[in-house]
Amino acid sequence: MKYQDIIEKMTIEEKAAFLSGKGEWQTREFKRLGIPSIFCSDGPHGIRKQAGAGDHLGLNASLPATCFPTAATIANSWDPELGEKLGETLGEEAMAQGVNVLLGPGLNIKRSPLCGRNFEYFSEDPYLAGKMAASYVRGIQSQGVFACPKHFAVNSQELRRMAMNSVLDERTLREIYLTGFEIAVKEGNAKTIMSAYNEVNGTYANENKHLLNDILRKDWGFDGIVITDWGASNDHALGVAAGSNLEMPNPGLDSARELIAAVESGKISIKDVDARVDELLDAVMTLYVNAQGKKDDFDKAAHHTIARKAAAESTVLLKNEENILPLKPGTKVAVIGDFAFVPRYQGAGSSMVNPTKIETVSELTGNYDIQVVGSCRGYSRTGEEDAAITKEALDVAARADVVLFFFGLNEDSESEGMDRNHMRIPQNQINLLQELGKVNSNLIGIISAGSAIEMPWHHYFKALLHCYLNGQAGAGAVLDILTGGVNPSGKLSETIPRRHEDTPAFRYYPSQERTSEYRESLYVGYRYYETAGVPVLYPFGFGLSYTTFEYSDLSVNDEGATFTVKNTGERDGAEVVQLYVKLKNAKVFRPEKELKGFTKVFLKAGESKAVTIPFDDKTFRYWNVRTDKWEVEGGKYEIIIGASSADLRLFGEIEKAATTDKLPYDPALLPSYYSGKIQNVDNGEFEQLLGRSIPDGHWSGMLTSNDAICQLYYAKSGLARFAYRRLTAMKKKADDSGKPDLNILFIYNMPFRAMAKMTGGAVSMDMVDGIVKLVNGHFFGGLGQVISGYFRNSKLNKQYEKKIES
Ligand code: BGC
Repeated sequence: MKYQDIIEKMTIEEKAAFLSGKGEWQTREFKRLGIPSIFCSDGPHGIRKQAGAGDHLGLNASLPATCFPTAATIANSWDPELGEKLGETLGEEAMAQGVNVLLGPGLNIKRSPLCGRNFEYFSEDPYLAGKMAASYVRGIQSQGVFACPKHFAVNSQELRRMAMNSVLDERTLREIYLTGFEIAVKEGNAKTIMSAYNEVNGTYANENKHLLNDILRKDWGFDGIVITDWGASNDHALGVAAGSNLEMPNPGLDSARELIAAVESGKISIKDVDARVDELLDAVMTLYVNAQGKKDDFDKAAHHTIARKAAAESTVLLKNEENILPLKPGTKVAVIGDFAFVPRYQGAGSSMVNPTKIETVSELTGNYDIQVVGSCRGYSRTGEEDAAITKEALDVAARADVVLFFFGLNEDSESEGMDRNHMRIPQNQINLLQELGKVNSNLIGIISAGSAIEMPWHHYFKALLHCYLNGQAGAGAVLDILTGGVNPSGKLSETIPRRHEDTPAFRYYPSQERTSEYRESLYVGYRYYETAGVPVLYPFGFGLSYTTFEYSDLSVNDEGATFTVKNTGERDGAEVVQLYVKLKNAKVFRPEKELKGFTKVFLKAGESKAVTIPFDDKTFRYWNVRTDKWEVEGGKYEIIIGASSADLRLFGEIEKAATTDKLPYDPALLPSYYSGKIQNVDNGEFEQLLGRSIPDGHWSGMLTSNDAICQLYYAKSGLARFAYRRLTAMKKKADDSGKPDLNILFIYNMPFRAMAKMTGGAVSMDMVDGIVKLVNGHFFGGLGQVISGYFRNSKLNKQYEKKIES
């Protein structure tokens, strides 16, 4: 052990207390031992350091920081160099604000477009997500701050996120849900990782030895610390034994007492505790030293400029008929849409940043060579129809050469803590669009939305620009692109399907009652649409430019693929070139093709460059559930170079020898998986894939401390059911007002145990058990346990505090 000397001096009480947080954001310090405290902060696209009252839902204000585009946006740049630059900038701001661990990036896979946090995640593809995450991690950590990739793992839904069991087969786990984390750990050298709220195959992520020990620490060589998501610890002793270090935010000393009891009873060994303490000490000491003598400010204007460049590089041009864009100098434009006045530039929840400044399109148009004939809000953000503002918009549109229509999802549609239940934008925006089409045929749409939306209205537009959520400097970036100062180079990091019904997890998402069954297996995003032959609106990897690129001269050898890209247009520009791998007639089922490499090439007009995309350990591998190893199937692989997953330009081949003759599946038993038609997988076939029976996901019997508060519906106690009805009514009122209340949503979806895990020691697990008894109908027994538990807890807390005072 590296810190043997300190560990030898620590009492068991100090060790146990060290392994959990002391407040919303900090770890405990021990002056006697020279152990300082470290500070954690969200978030992935800007620092959310709360100087006053802390919360993990983005409710209370934080210090001003640069609000960069969110991960879903930056992934469209397909540019790890940009990711690294953003990471450095985030790291610098974190350091300036005294933040030691930055709680991000988030890289959960976009299993369904409905996940409320998709705006915070990179992609539907693990390779792209992993490469982008690794780049952030490298950048953040270059500044002496630790990055914390999250949420590890299989955390792709918000509904009952703290009480959900993700059920999936081992191959899907490895290939789709872990590969991104593997890249972030191995290539980014992440020093911390956040364990997710949910269970993975029946064991909480934070207690999951398979995830934390066998895979993360042993297979990937992770030597940092595992931090629980806020309130994600269930049994801290099991967490510690599995490889988790720090229970956050503030479970109080009850959790430390449980840890000591677990050592005393032999449930876990002191060796495990010491190992976790040693890893945490290493992090804390390193971070403390890193922070000495660092600047306590940063250049706000320079960081704003970086945010603008990042937004510009990540904007996707989906459509450009008649080359209507870029706008000719002096074009008469109508600027219509509320988002041009109050931009939609970030999502809600723990990632919410208090920006240093915000620019709006309506303020900036004067800086460009266009003639604005009028600008107006056009629609109400909250969805109501308003004849007067519609009329105003139509009048303005009729006077212009082109209409710039700013629209998309409003703030209330996408947030941590809730999933969407459809993929539509508000109907009043579509209605206005239809009317606008009648008075002006030159409509240019500028979309703000953090995740994929249905676009049945896309034919109204001659040009369509998808900005996702582009941060505080997004307005300038959009105008730069519209007027041609910047040539768009973003490409979609997720598929835009035609309809929600077409999405692979349509029937399985969000979840059953207790379980979320990943029946679609590997077929997420383009892996599904292409294999099952489902047409999409805009494919994965798609995006236009104001110039054109030609691909030629592919050669493939054992090291990788080399080819030439030429800019054949009249403008300088950048092209994202993608390498896909395909194996025809594979014996082991697999998607039609998979992304295994990409690069972004900047080319002056007329310039050509030779590009090499190297192969790596992930290019040909698949997880074999029979040998329990990564293997390569033998055969002739197609190496395809594309401008998107659907625009394939060059084809090569390479032969690979099999690494095993033990094949894992019998095709006759897995017909849906062999055809890719996985929207209706029956129980028998899913069980074949899982290799075990499907756990019962229904709520039944007595409530337990791990059931969510919304399950009070099933409570035996009338009082508890009354509390449920009150809470549901409050939630409904907030939802109906168009402004979901994150606090209520959190409480609604949180398990009973969180009362003990997030209240700084005021509530013990003993008291939670009393509450659970009470709701299960044992009123007096439960109440008695709560009251006696309260006094016992206060007394034990005081005694413990004395022992660790230094
Ligand atoms: C979120 C995390 C976040 C944490 C702290 C949790 O609710 O899931 O992503 O880092 O809160 O704010």
